[in-house]
Order: sequence, then C-alpha cells, then structure tokens
Amino acid sequence: MGAIVHLLAFIVLIGISGARYEPNWESIDSRPLPEWYDQAKFGIFIHWGVFSVPSFGSEWFWWYWQKQKQKPYVDFMQRNYPPDFKYQDFAPLFTAEFFDAKEWTDIFASSGAKYIVLTTKHHEGFTLWGSKTSWNWNAVDVGPKRDVVDEVASAVRAQGDLRLGLYHSLFEWFNPLFEQDAANLFKTNYFPTMKTLPELYELIVKYKPEVLWSDGDGDAPDKYWNSTGFLAWLYNDSPVRDTVVTNDRWGYGSICTHGGYYTCSDRYQPGHLLKHKWENCMTIDSKSWGYRRNAPLRDYLTIEQLVANLVETVSCGGNLLMNIGPTHDGRIAPIFEERLRQMGQWLKVNGEAIYNTTAWRSQNDSVTPNIWYTSKPTEKTVFAVLLKWPGNGSVILTEPVALPGLTKVDLLGHGPLQWEPLSPRGLRVTLPQLSFSQMPCQWAWTLGVRGAR
Ligand SMILES: *[C@@H]1O[C@H](CO)[C@@H](O)[C@H](O)[C@H]1NC(C)=O
Ligand SMILES: *[C@@H]1O[C@H](CO)[C@@H](O)[C@H](O)[C@H]1NC(C)=O
Ligand SMILES: *[C@@H]1O[C@H](CO)[C@@H](O)[C@H](O)[C@H]1NC(C)=O
Ligand SMILES: *[C@@H]1O[C@H](CO)[C@@H](O)[C@H](O)[C@H]1NC(C)=O
Repeated sequence: MGAIVHLLAFIVLIGISGARYEPNWESIDSRPLPEWYDQAKFGIFIHWGVFSVPSFGSEWFWWYWQKQKQKPYVDFMQRNYPPDFKYQDFAPLFTAEFFDAKEWTDIFASSGAKYIVLTTKHHEGFTLWGSKTSWNWNAVDVGPKRDVVDEVASAVRAQGDLRLGLYHSLFEWFNPLFEQDAANLFKTNYFPTMKTLPELYELIVKYKPEVLWSDGDGDAPDKYWNSTGFLAWLYNDSPVRDTVVTNDRWGYGSICTHGGYYTCSDRYQPGHLLKHKWENCMTIDSKSWGYRRNAPLRDYLTIEQLVANLVETVSCGGNLLMNIGPTHDGRIAPIFEERLRQMGQWLKVNGEAIYNTTAWRSQNDSVTPNIWYTSKPTEKTVFAVLLKWPGNGSVILTEPVALPGLTKVDLLGHGPLQWEPLSPRGLRVTLPQLSFSQMPCQWAWTLGVRGAR
C-alpha cells in the first residue's frame, strides 16, 4: 500500500517536473516548441558590430577584404585608410554615441514585432557584452565602452511587449584556436571549450534570452561544438528552460534538420506549408545585414514587398525575422525606422489575420492570384489577405466553403461586406468603393470570412 502511494507520488512528480532531455538529437528534437513563438509571427533582427564602422559592402567586410581580397574592399581600404590599418583599428571607431536602447525598443515595438534578435557576436568575434573570454575584443573594453547586450536586454524588459532574442556565432573567422582545431580536422576542440561554450552559458545565465539564434558552424560537426550537450542543459536546467526557443544552426548538417525551429537558408520562403515550424530571416536592405552607407534606395525592400513577405511566410506556417542594421554611432536610419513603423501601421489593422493564427488547408488561392490565407480554427474564421486591391469591385475567393446562414465577411478596419456563394465552393465578395483616404490601410487588405470551412 505504502509502496504504491510512493510510486504514484513519484510518477506525479516526474509528470510535473517534465521530461529531461538527453544530449542527442532524437531527444533534443522531441521538445515541443514553446507556444509563444508560433503565436508571435514577427520579430526584428539587428546586425550590429565592428563591421558597422566601415559600413561598406556587407557585415562580411573583414573576410571579403582580407581573406578573399575582393577588389571593391581592397580599393576601399586603399583609398580611405592608411596602409597599415588593421580591421581591429575599426573597433575604437565603433562609438555608439547616439545609441539609446529605449529609443530602439520603442521603434521595434511600434513595428508590431513580438521579439527581437540582436547579434551579440558575429563571425568577427567582437562581443557586444563584456565577455570574460573575449579579452579586449568586446564593447565594454573597446568602442562603445558599454555593455550593449545588457542595455538592450533591460530596455526590452522595461518595454514589456517584446521578448529578447540573442544571435551568436559559434565560429570566428580568424580566431587562432578555431584555426588550430580546423587544421586538426576538428579532432581537437580547444575553441568550443575555451570560447564558444563559455560564451553561450554566459549569455544565457546573464541575459536570459528567449530566442537563442545560433549561426556560423564553420563547417564543423555538432559533436565538435557539443551542441546537444549544451542544448540538453538549456532545455533541462537553464533559467530559460520553459520559454527559450532555438533555431537549427548547431553544426554542419543540422540546418533544416535538427534543433528548434528551422531556418534552412537565409531569406527562406518555401511557398508551401512545412510540417515543422520555421522562420524566414531576411533583411530590409536586400544586399546586406549590416548597415551600408553606400546602399542605394533601390536595394531596400518596399513596404509592399515587406508586407507580402510577412503574409506569405505566415500563411506557410513560418515566422518573419526582418533585419535592420544600425549605424556605428547607434542610430536606426530613417529608412529603417519608416519601414518598421509602416509594418506596425499595417499590423494595427490586420494583426488579427497574423498573430496567433494557424496555417490553413490552402496557403494561397488556387485561381485568383495574390491572395494568401490564414485561419483561426477555434473561431471558424478564415482570413484572406489581398496583396493587390482588385480593380473591378469584386474578388473571388475560390477556397473557403460558405455555410448557409452562418458565414459573414468583413474587411478588417472597415466593416461588413456583401458576398454571394459560388458553386461548388468559393465566394464572390463585393468590395466597397473607397477613396485612398477611406481605405483602412494602404498595402494589403484582409477579408475576414467568419463561420466558414
Ligand atoms: C558537453 O556537454 C555535456 C552536457 O552539458 C557536458 O557534460 C560535457 O562535459 C560537455 N563536453 C565538453 C567536451 O565540453
Ligand atoms: C495570442 O495568444 C496568447 C495566448 O493565448 C495571448 O496571451 C496573446 O495576447 C495573444 N496575442 C494576440 C496579439 O492576440
Ligand atoms: C500560389 O503560390 C504558389 C507558390 O508561391 C505559386 O506557385 C502559385 O502560382 C500561387 N497561385 C496563384 C493562383 O497565384
Ligand atoms: C473581376 O476580376 C476577376 C479577375 O481579375 C474576375 O475573377 C471577376 O469575375 C471579376 N468580377 C466582375 C464582377 O467582373
């Protein structure tokens, strides 16, 4: 009797404490993704680092200049800097004098994003926090002389509507320890043991991010990085074990296969529904993630393109992670600010069709172009987002099945609309005659089809 009670108590205890994850992919991959992430749908990516000082070409500046010796980079350095100028000499010029984390988070929140992801360390190895293992190559010792990660983390928490995410590059292009391991064909692991893993533990314990965005495996296998060992700790014992989400970049071959949500590639846009949760990371400056002083207007995606990206991504079950690159002195350039605020204006009207939605049985209309669907099954609602305003006063939604006496259609931000059922399925919806200023929004319009299948 007593033994049975004890056994029951033990089983209950295991149930409450939850499963413990083992350091292997089968176990790590079995963890359900915390719900908040799928509900959030939209985040802001921020690429900031020493590369923001030259702000020329790309955040891969150091590599393209010194490793690949690409002509535009070599010429740029020859024309503008003394001959003995090293990449390291850019660090003191990373001044950040206008950096105000509260201003940043106000702008991020105004975009309607629910999380941000900040590069705490890109492949250059410079850490935006006072890392113990990045001596004299971090934002507290050189450049800003401030703990940027701490300031952003505090501002995000004070803001209240955003969650904190941290990007971290596993490898560093020119770190001698990494080069040594690479020369040993990754049979030694000096670099992960002395650099990468201490940094990861430090980031998690100190800043408690809810997204850990891993990148840059340097073509080394996950065993070399001890990725499953770290992730088992993250999921079992870390201070963010209940809410943290990670991606799929944990070692050569893990992308699109292992970890948390899938990123698969940069600017991933499959165009169809995936079984596994995924994220489309893309950048407003279509040619670079870091700030480029020489970017022409035509390289920036328009708000129409950005809204289309968000809608297509969410319809196919993904989240959109939209990138900006702040300047070396800490500003978010007005073009980025405008795009972010425009997204927020659009989401204020159309957020019901984005946040907390579920991918529907059809992702886009099979007949009428430029229509993407999302749904809220518990409310029996289907949303049809029209990326173009139909010119002739009506639109045919081929996919939804109207229910007699039940179905209602409205234009979000406007009100109810007339519609008629089509046979064997579909609806013809009559659109109101609206002047530009009467439109609820200007870049894409959502029909709520309520009480439909
Ligand atoms: C790998 O991670 C596991 C679990 O955290 C740990 O016990 C082990 O010591 C780590 N191995 C190395 C080489 O760091
Ligand atoms: C989404 O759902 C969650 C959990 O039910 C809720 O807390 C949150 O407010 C919802 N978000 C929106 C924008 O409706
Ligand atoms: C629906 O989307 C797919 C994938 O992007 C595309 O190939 C197809 O042409 C779209 N359908 C219509 C009717 O535009
Ligand atoms: C409006 O144009 C769409 C195609 O662009 C067509 O399917 C629809 O039948 C037209 N509606 C009317 C009322 O002509």
